[in-house]
Amino acid sequence: MARQAKNTLLQKAKKLKSDEFYTLLPDIESELQHYRNHFKNKVVYCNCDDPCTSNFYRYFAENFKELGIKKLISSCYKESNIDLFNSTSSNGGYYYIYTGTETENVIPSNSDLVYFKEDGDFRSSESINLLKEADIVVSNPPFSLFREYVAQLIKYNKTFLIIGNINAITYKEIFNLIKENKIWLGINLGRGISGFFVPEHYELYGTEARIDNMGNRIVSPNNCLWLTNMDNAKRNEGIILTKRYKGNESEYQRYDNYDGININKTQDIPMDYAGFMGVPITFLHKFNPNQFEIIQFRKGDNGKDLSINGKCPYFRILIKNRQITCI
Ligand SMILES: C[S@@+](CC[C@H](N)C(=O)[O-])C[C@H]1O[C@@H](n2cnc3c(N)ncnc32)[C@H](O)[C@@H]1O
Repeated sequence: MARQAKNTLLQKAKKLKSDEFYTLLPDIESELQHYRNHFKNKVVYCNCDDPCTSNFYRYFAENFKELGIKKLISSCYKESNIDLFNSTSSNGGYYYIYTGTETENVIPSNSDLVYFKEDGDFRSSESINLLKEADIVVSNPPFSLFREYVAQLIKYNKTFLIIGNINAITYKEIFNLIKENKIWLGINLGRGISGFFVPEHYELYGTEARIDNMGNRIVSPNNCLWLTNMDNAKRNEGIILTKRYKGNESEYQRYDNYDGININKTQDIPMDYAGFMGVPITFLHKFNPNQFEIIQFRKGDNGKDLSINGKCPYFRILIKNRQITCI
């Protein structure tokens, strides 16, 4: 095989590898229980979801009446028919609209599916038309297209709840949205998301990898989170601060290149420090915008990574306590 063709295949395989994580129903239920009052009379769109196999589609179809949903749309990309689910294959993607009037099985049969003229890419004009109809988008999108996916949701002013990799927080575009309080973290993160189905050809890695009693292959990367712009109770809870800076100054090292102190664990944030503090990115899981202001990510005044005695701690987010005005 020519080298170029081989490289293209390898790149495709690499991309698909990070994109083929299929969400488990218990993880969807565990997160969605915190947003139950958001769906009444709303059009819900799962736009990276094969209605024949996706647990997002299944969750909303099965809870359609209880949540008071107006319409449920689930669409999938041409490549989503992987052998994991032995689903029907087609060259184009397709979608299904569930309106709650269907009485029997909520899973559509082949004849119920509407085939796209295009390929069902979430960026295609047909998918965007469905997106325009929707009030709320809920999915686990392809990780390789995460930036574009979020940018599109913001562009079309959609309410959403999606799964991403924790690293996504460090993307400039995503971090800025969090900083501006346009999006925030959901309830579950890391080990709070139990795992994902992966296809046959996918390596079962990690100590928690397993095959369930239905033969489904499951990995637990423990590195994912939910991102949303729907209010949830956790966002309104403040972090209970128990440490003091005064009298313990030596426990808080100062940065070489920024006028602020370094904090290694969110629970070590002092209650009495009015200046800038660098906290680990996991702080965002507990972030309440009424309690803290996010200043910037990672960089000191000289544009280089925050350092202490010439060494860089892990990425830090610079924050300030809004509720203290003087030290
Ligand atoms: C991480 S998987 C999750 C699938 C499903 N949402 C779930 O949670 O089980 C991402 C899905 O997006 C599909 N996909 C990849 N590129 C896409 C695109 N450009 N537009 C829409 N879907 C895409 C993949 O085929 C895959 O099914």
